[in-house]
Amino acid sequence: MRVIVTKSYDEMSRVAADELAACVRDNPACVLGLATGTTPIGLYADLVSDFEAGRLSFAGVTSFNLDEYVGLEGTHPQSYRYFMNKNLFDHVDIDIAHTHVPSGLGDDDGKVSSEYELAIRQAGGVDLQLLGIGPNGHIGFNEPTDHFPVATHRVELTESTRVANSRLFDSLDEVPRYARTMGIGTIMRARKIVLVASGENKAQILRDAIEGPVTPMVPASILQFHPNVVVVADDKAGALLSR
Ligand code: PGA
Repeated sequence: MRVIVTKSYDEMSRVAADELAACVRDNPACVLGLATGTTPIGLYADLVSDFEAGRLSFAGVTSFNLDEYVGLEGTHPQSYRYFMNKNLFDHVDIDIAHTHVPSGLGDDDGKVSSEYELAIRQAGGVDLQLLGIGPNGHIGFNEPTDHFPVATHRVELTESTRVANSRLFDSLDEVPRYARTMGIGTIMRARKIVLVASGENKAQILRDAIEGPVTPMVPASILQFHPNVVVVADDKAGALLSR
Protein backbone atom coordinates (compact mmCIF):
# COMPACT_ATOMS: atom_id res chain seq x y z
CA MET A 1 0.00 0.00 0.00
CA ARG A 2 1.31 3.42 -0.96
CA VAL A 3 0.17 6.25 1.31
CA ILE A 4 0.45 9.85 0.15
CA VAL A 5 -0.39 12.67 2.57
CA THR A 6 -0.82 15.98 0.77
CA LYS A 7 -0.72 19.53 2.08
CA SER A 8 -4.26 20.39 1.07
CA TYR A 9 -7.56 19.14 -0.33
CA ASP A 10 -6.65 20.62 -3.72
CA GLU A 11 -3.37 18.74 -3.82
CA MET A 12 -5.12 15.51 -2.76
CA SER A 13 -7.57 16.00 -5.62
CA ARG A 14 -4.82 16.61 -8.18
CA VAL A 15 -2.74 13.62 -7.08
CA ALA A 16 -5.77 11.32 -7.22
CA ALA A 17 -6.93 12.78 -10.55
CA ASP A 18 -3.47 12.07 -11.95
CA GLU A 19 -3.84 8.40 -10.95
CA LEU A 20 -7.09 8.14 -12.89
CA ALA A 21 -5.73 10.14 -15.83
CA ALA A 22 -2.67 7.89 -16.04
CA CYS A 23 -4.92 4.83 -16.13
CA VAL A 24 -6.93 6.31 -19.01
CA ARG A 25 -3.82 7.38 -20.95
CA ASP A 26 -2.19 3.96 -20.53
CA ASN A 27 -5.33 2.24 -21.76
CA PRO A 28 -7.92 4.51 -23.41
CA ALA A 29 -10.40 1.60 -23.25
CA CYS A 30 -9.94 1.08 -19.51
CA VAL A 31 -12.69 0.30 -17.01
CA LEU A 32 -12.92 2.80 -14.16
CA GLY A 33 -14.72 2.15 -10.91
CA LEU A 34 -16.07 5.46 -9.65
CA ALA A 35 -17.24 6.84 -6.32
CA THR A 36 -19.52 9.59 -5.10
CA GLY A 37 -19.43 11.73 -1.95
CA THR A 38 -17.98 15.11 -1.10
CA THR A 39 -14.35 13.98 -1.22
CA PRO A 40 -14.02 13.18 -4.97
CA ILE A 41 -15.73 16.37 -6.20
CA GLY A 42 -12.37 18.17 -6.57
CA LEU A 43 -10.72 15.34 -8.45
CA TYR A 44 -13.64 15.12 -10.89
CA ALA A 45 -13.30 18.88 -11.49
CA ASP A 46 -9.60 18.31 -12.23
CA LEU A 47 -10.45 15.56 -14.73
CA VAL A 48 -12.95 17.87 -16.43
CA SER A 49 -10.20 20.53 -16.67
CA ASP A 50 -7.83 17.97 -18.19
CA PHE A 51 -10.48 17.10 -20.76
CA GLU A 52 -11.24 20.74 -21.57
CA ALA A 53 -7.53 21.43 -22.02
CA GLY A 54 -7.32 18.57 -24.53
CA ARG A 55 -5.09 16.48 -22.27
CA LEU A 56 -7.49 13.61 -21.68
CA SER A 57 -10.27 11.78 -23.48
CA PHE A 58 -12.82 9.45 -21.96
CA ALA A 59 -14.23 8.40 -25.34
CA GLY A 60 -13.19 4.76 -24.91
CA VAL A 61 -13.72 4.48 -21.15
CA THR A 62 -16.31 2.29 -19.44
CA SER A 63 -17.30 3.09 -15.86
CA PHE A 64 -19.01 1.31 -12.99
CA ASN A 65 -20.03 3.21 -9.88
CA LEU A 66 -19.84 1.69 -6.44
CA ASP A 67 -23.35 2.24 -5.19
CA GLU A 68 -26.77 3.86 -5.33
CA TYR A 69 -29.59 4.59 -2.91
CA VAL A 70 -32.50 2.17 -3.20
CA GLY A 71 -35.68 3.99 -4.13
CA LEU A 72 -34.13 6.97 -5.92
CA GLU A 73 -34.41 7.33 -9.68
CA GLY A 74 -31.44 8.65 -11.58
CA THR A 75 -33.17 11.98 -12.01
CA HIS A 76 -33.37 12.55 -8.24
CA PRO A 77 -30.85 15.25 -7.26
CA GLN A 78 -29.51 13.09 -4.40
CA SER A 79 -29.13 9.98 -6.52
CA TYR A 80 -25.61 8.93 -7.36
CA ARG A 81 -26.44 8.73 -11.08
CA TYR A 82 -27.39 12.41 -10.90
CA PHE A 83 -24.16 13.20 -9.01
CA MET A 84 -22.01 11.49 -11.62
CA ASN A 85 -23.72 13.22 -14.53
CA LYS A 86 -23.41 16.60 -12.82
CA ASN A 87 -19.82 16.27 -11.64
CA LEU A 88 -18.22 14.34 -14.51
CA PHE A 89 -20.18 12.65 -17.28
CA ASP A 90 -21.99 15.77 -18.57
CA HIS A 91 -18.68 17.59 -19.00
CA VAL A 92 -16.47 15.03 -20.74
CA ASP A 93 -16.64 12.88 -23.88
CA ILE A 94 -17.51 9.59 -22.17
CA ASP A 95 -20.22 7.58 -23.95
CA ILE A 96 -23.07 7.75 -21.42
CA ALA A 97 -24.18 4.27 -22.55
CA HIS A 98 -20.86 2.98 -21.20
CA THR A 99 -21.40 4.48 -17.73
CA HIS A 100 -23.00 2.24 -15.13
CA VAL A 101 -24.46 3.05 -11.73
CA PRO A 102 -26.28 0.28 -9.84
CA SER A 103 -30.01 0.72 -10.25
CA GLY A 104 -31.81 2.13 -7.23
CA LEU A 105 -34.99 0.55 -8.54
CA GLY A 106 -36.12 -2.98 -9.33
CA ASP A 107 -38.10 -5.34 -7.14
CA ASP A 108 -36.09 -8.46 -7.73
CA ASP A 109 -33.09 -7.39 -5.76
CA GLY A 110 -30.95 -10.46 -6.35
CA LYS A 111 -31.43 -10.14 -10.10
CA VAL A 112 -30.45 -6.46 -10.29
CA SER A 113 -27.34 -7.07 -8.19
CA SER A 114 -26.19 -10.18 -10.04
CA GLU A 115 -26.69 -8.46 -13.40
CA TYR A 116 -24.41 -5.67 -12.21
CA GLU A 117 -21.71 -8.19 -11.25
CA LEU A 118 -22.08 -9.86 -14.63
CA ALA A 119 -21.78 -6.54 -16.48
CA ILE A 120 -18.52 -5.78 -14.64
CA ARG A 121 -17.14 -9.20 -15.53
CA GLN A 122 -18.22 -8.90 -19.17
CA ALA A 123 -16.44 -5.54 -19.39
CA GLY A 124 -13.23 -7.32 -18.33
CA GLY A 125 -13.23 -6.24 -14.68
CA VAL A 126 -12.33 -2.91 -13.13
CA ASP A 127 -8.84 -1.57 -13.89
CA LEU A 128 -8.87 1.22 -11.30
CA GLN A 129 -11.41 1.58 -8.51
CA LEU A 130 -11.74 4.96 -6.82
CA LEU A 131 -12.94 4.86 -3.20
CA GLY A 132 -13.84 7.29 -0.45
CA ILE A 133 -14.09 6.15 3.15
CA GLY A 134 -17.07 6.68 5.43
CA PRO A 135 -16.60 7.97 8.99
CA ASN A 136 -17.42 4.40 10.10
CA GLY A 137 -14.90 2.86 7.71
CA HIS A 138 -17.35 1.83 5.01
CA ILE A 139 -16.23 1.56 1.38
CA GLY A 140 -19.03 1.75 -1.11
CA PHE A 141 -21.97 1.15 1.21
CA ASN A 142 -20.35 -1.88 2.82
CA GLU A 143 -21.12 -1.02 6.41
CA PRO A 144 -19.35 -2.42 9.50
CA THR A 145 -20.68 -5.92 10.19
CA ASP A 146 -19.47 -9.42 11.04
CA HIS A 147 -18.40 -10.43 7.52
CA PHE A 148 -17.06 -9.06 4.24
CA PRO A 149 -19.86 -9.16 1.62
CA VAL A 150 -18.61 -10.84 -1.53
CA ALA A 151 -20.73 -9.40 -4.33
CA THR A 152 -23.06 -6.55 -5.26
CA HIS A 153 -25.99 -6.60 -2.87
CA ARG A 154 -28.68 -4.60 -1.17
CA VAL A 155 -27.69 -3.25 2.22
CA GLU A 156 -29.46 -1.57 5.12
CA LEU A 157 -27.65 1.68 5.90
CA THR A 158 -26.47 2.25 9.46
CA GLU A 159 -27.96 5.12 11.39
CA SER A 160 -24.54 6.83 11.47
CA THR A 161 -24.29 6.74 7.66
CA ARG A 162 -27.82 8.10 7.28
CA VAL A 163 -27.00 10.91 9.72
CA ALA A 164 -23.67 11.65 7.95
CA ASN A 165 -25.40 11.79 4.56
CA SER A 166 -28.43 13.73 5.77
CA ARG A 167 -26.50 16.95 5.23
CA LEU A 168 -27.36 16.58 1.55
CA PHE A 169 -31.09 16.00 2.14
CA ASP A 170 -33.75 18.31 3.57
CA SER A 171 -34.18 16.04 6.60
CA LEU A 172 -32.97 12.72 8.03
CA ASP A 173 -36.35 11.18 7.19
CA GLU A 174 -35.67 11.68 3.49
CA VAL A 175 -32.39 9.73 3.53
CA PRO A 176 -33.08 6.28 2.05
CA ARG A 177 -32.76 3.33 4.41
CA TYR A 178 -31.29 0.94 1.86
CA ALA A 179 -28.68 1.09 -0.86
CA ARG A 180 -27.30 -1.22 -3.50
CA THR A 181 -23.52 -1.52 -3.43
CA MET A 182 -20.65 -3.44 -4.94
CA GLY A 183 -19.46 -5.98 -2.38
CA ILE A 184 -16.06 -6.06 -0.74
CA GLY A 185 -15.20 -8.94 -3.09
CA THR A 186 -16.20 -6.83 -6.10
CA ILE A 187 -13.96 -4.00 -4.90
CA MET A 188 -11.03 -6.31 -4.10
CA ARG A 189 -11.09 -7.73 -7.65
CA ALA A 190 -10.18 -4.30 -9.09
CA ARG A 191 -6.63 -4.36 -10.42
CA LYS A 192 -5.77 -1.08 -8.71
CA ILE A 193 -7.48 0.90 -5.96
CA VAL A 194 -7.15 4.62 -5.20
CA LEU A 195 -8.71 5.70 -1.90
CA VAL A 196 -9.15 9.40 -1.15
CA ALA A 197 -9.78 10.84 2.32
CA SER A 198 -10.21 14.43 3.40
CA GLY A 199 -10.87 16.25 6.65
CA GLU A 200 -10.22 15.68 10.31
CA ASN A 201 -13.35 13.58 10.78
CA LYS A 202 -11.60 10.88 8.69
CA ALA A 203 -8.28 10.93 10.57
CA GLN A 204 -9.03 8.24 13.17
CA ILE A 205 -10.89 5.88 10.84
CA LEU A 206 -8.16 6.20 8.20
CA ARG A 207 -5.60 5.22 10.80
CA ASP A 208 -7.76 2.29 11.93
CA ALA A 209 -8.17 1.17 8.31
CA ILE A 210 -4.51 1.40 7.33
CA GLU A 211 -2.70 0.60 10.56
CA GLY A 212 -5.21 -1.35 12.62
CA PRO A 213 -6.24 -5.00 12.39
CA VAL A 214 -8.11 -6.22 9.32
CA THR A 215 -11.71 -6.63 10.42
CA PRO A 216 -15.16 -6.38 8.83
CA MET A 217 -15.98 -3.92 11.61
CA VAL A 218 -13.69 -1.54 9.67
CA PRO A 219 -14.54 -2.57 6.10
CA ALA A 220 -11.76 -0.45 4.52
CA SER A 221 -9.14 -2.40 6.52
CA ILE A 222 -9.45 -5.25 3.97
CA LEU A 223 -7.50 -3.03 1.57
CA GLN A 224 -4.36 -3.98 3.51
CA PHE A 225 -4.65 -7.33 1.69
CA HIS A 226 -4.89 -5.79 -1.81
CA PRO A 227 -1.62 -5.79 -3.79
CA ASN A 228 -2.04 -2.40 -5.50
CA VAL A 229 -3.56 0.34 -3.35
CA VAL A 230 -2.75 4.05 -3.29
CA VAL A 231 -4.21 6.06 -0.40
CA VAL A 232 -4.27 9.81 -0.98
CA ALA A 233 -5.14 11.77 2.17
CA ASP A 234 -5.07 15.48 2.77
CA ASP A 235 -3.16 16.86 5.76
CA LYS A 236 -6.18 16.68 8.07
CA ALA A 237 -7.24 13.11 7.20
CA GLY A 238 -3.63 11.95 7.34
CA ALA A 239 -2.85 13.65 10.66
CA LEU A 240 -2.95 10.50 12.83
CA LEU A 241 -0.99 8.18 10.53
CA SER A 242 2.21 7.02 12.16
CA ARG A 243 4.20 6.49 8.97
P1 PGA B 1 -17.62 11.69 1.74
O1 PGA B 1 -18.17 10.22 1.75
O2 PGA B 1 -16.62 11.80 0.64
O3 PGA B 1 -18.84 12.53 1.49
O4 PGA B 1 -17.01 11.94 3.08
C1 PGA B 1 -17.28 9.16 1.75
C2 PGA B 1 -18.04 7.88 1.94
O5 PGA B 1 -19.01 7.85 2.73
O6 PGA B 1 -17.65 6.88 1.34
